[in-house]
Amino acid sequence: DLTGQIANFHFNHILLNAAGVKCQTTAELDQVLASPYSGSVVTKSATPMVRPGNPSPRYYQLPEELGSINSMGLPNEGFAYYLDYVLNKQTDKPVFFSVAGLTKDDNLAMLMELEQSDFNGLVELNLSCPNVPGKPQTAYDFEATRAILTEVFAFFTKPLGVKLPPYFDMVHFDMIAAVLNDFPLAFVNTINSIGNGLAIDPHTDTVVIKPKGGFGGLGGSLVKATALANVRALRERLNESIKIIGTGGVTSGRDVYDLVLCGADLVEVGTQLMVEDTPVFERLEGELANELDKKNYQSLAEIRGKLQTI
Ligand code: DHB
Repeated sequence: DLTGQIANFHFNHILLNAAGVKCQTTAELDQVLASPYSGSVVTKSATPMVRPGNPSPRYYQLPEELGSINSMGLPNEGFAYYLDYVLNKQTDKPVFFSVAGLTKDDNLAMLMELEQSDFNGLVELNLSCPNVPGKPQTAYDFEATRAILTEVFAFFTKPLGVKLPPYFDMVHFDMIAAVLNDFPLAFVNTINSIGNGLAIDPHTDTVVIKPKGGFGGLGGSLVKATALANVRALRERLNESIKIIGTGGVTSGRDVYDLVLCGADLVEVGTQLMVEDTPVFERLEGELANELDKKNYQSLAEIRGKLQTI
């Protein structure tokens, strides 16, 4: 059994796209959604109005399969485009609608529209975009995170989760969990990219992406240990009712297995989906099945959260 569950939503496959990858246009969303081994699709984080994003080059694949660096800057087709998509799409898969307003009021306005619409999937409130010049990552400010969730849950009744940035300090794990546990969240998604890394091209002695002087969010293999730590630390601290989507550093079925051992209910693929496109879902699920077979497990439930310490 390689299926997953969040709130009352059942997923026939554990893998999804990570928000931002293969999900900006209806053609991309359709491709991920129609992929036989995807659990569903997450829409590109929406702002109220269409945005072109940062200047290119704004995504770079690092050498030696280390991962990627990006500073996309929230290019998206605007909230109404994605609302139209999810309201009119015929699918049995439970869709995630991601919102990433640049202000609290923008987020509240989009969530109010989702609340009043017929949308019946899950909503992911992105509190962790590192790439918009001048805009901090909200979830690094624990009081700002509490403030927005307080206002959201004053009116929002549909299944809602938050996309978190990685944390690097045990006290910060305690602090964010204490905030999140005060709200009826359906899930948290951890991690977003490791914000504001820097990569250098040795031939030109220059940065590799144009925005922000070359600073950008890191993804892929080099973030795996941080993703595992965040899933594990949050699973140890969050209310049981708050499910966890594990994202970050997945290039093999073993990486999916490891995130589930740490407590992930679903797993998302970003950088490696850029590399391989949607066939990655079938390859990873096959490798995951082999990992379980090797250990004589029949289902993910047998390993979920069961990481052993020594
Ligand atoms: C972008 C990057 C993110 O990590 C995110 O959460 C939202 C948007 C971007 O640069 O487009």
